Amino acid sequence: MAVRRAPHLPDAPTFDVRLAATDIAEALADDVRRGLAASPKSLPPKWFYDERGSRLFDAITRLPEYYPTEAERSILLERAGEIIAAAGAGTVVELGSGTSDKTRAVLDAGYAAGTLRRFVPFDVSETTLRDAARQLGQRYPGVHIHGVVGDFERHLDALHQPAARPERSAGADPLQRDGRRLVLFLGGTIGNFTPQGRRRLLADLCGGLEEGDTLLLGTDLVKPKERLIPAYDDPAGVTAEFNRNVLHVINRELDADFAPERFSHEARWNEDAAWVEMHLVARGAEQVRIGKLGMEVGFAPGESIHTEISAKFRPGQVERELAAVGMAVRCQWTDGDGLFAVTLAAKTAPAPTPAR
Ligand code: AVJ
Repeated sequence: MAVRRAPHLPDAPTFDVRLAATDIAEALADDVRRGLAASPKSLPPKWFYDERGSRLFDAITRLPEYYPTEAERSILLERAGEIIAAAGAGTVVELGSGTSDKTRAVLDAGYAAGTLRRFVPFDVSETTLRDAARQLGQRYPGVHIHGVVGDFERHLDALHQPAARPERSAGADPLQRDGRRLVLFLGGTIGNFTPQGRRRLLADLCGGLEEGDTLLLGTDLVKPKERLIPAYDDPAGVTAEFNRNVLHVINRELDADFAPERFSHEARWNEDAAWVEMHLVARGAEQVRIGKLGMEVGFAPGESIHTEISAKFRPGQVERELAAVGMAVRCQWTDGDGLFAVTLAAKTAPAPTPAR
């Protein structure tokens, strides 16, 4: 009789699906109903990333004008050994893992050091996650890959609670923990949140960590707008297509009749807020019907939908924001051109409650 490897053995990937297709459809409907009825109109950036949007984002990361990806990669390649040694983590978690492309630098170092036992990629896209888990399982034999399908604004508890079907395997804890944890939040994705949103997200994340667990955070840095704007408005028009993709997503998922080409892409540097804003601006008057929501949306010529913020950080800012949620910076690195920063911070002991 053929011996089949049981699915609960450590090197078969396991999954915890917190976000089903129906939840995603409902969340999109809510966001569109709210965002397009508001004034000014806005949509959250997470809806860019269907299959086409993910491919367009991938193309963005290869544009000569879009510097963050290569800048962060150079830091991770140079510092991976140091990061792994400082974190001393058996479990690596990655938020918004996508294809976990740059992450390999860190995972390779953990694998080579023999300390990596468990990798927990966390992403909204189930197909992306399953593909990545399969590939990573082959690259790191003996490492347990546990994928979590979720929205990190809503399901961070999945990192701290037992999986729906907790698996028992040699040395693994049914909690998402095997030794200390290192949480990766890379690519500058934290920049998609307002200061208030960042504080909530970081507090939420830190709340589930234990003393000594670490966070590796990638952040883009403030720089002249002559450098920033082309990164978000490239001459080849890839970012413009990426931005307009949200309209294609709404047309398909919510039975709407946006004419995406009648909206122009704009990237603006908001100096006071220190973020790049992306907008879709109606070239002329538009009347759009959103079938599944039974909703009509009118646009005046020049009216915009605000689709993304991408916050840029000043020296000392990351350290202050982390300190505010109980994390202390251990190391911070930038690339040779000072474009991007990667920060390693550890959860500190809770401050003693002041005596009254
Ligand atoms: C994936 C959020 C880090 O803000 O630079 C790229 C997304 N938007 N070009 C960024 C993005 C337009 C990207 N993040």
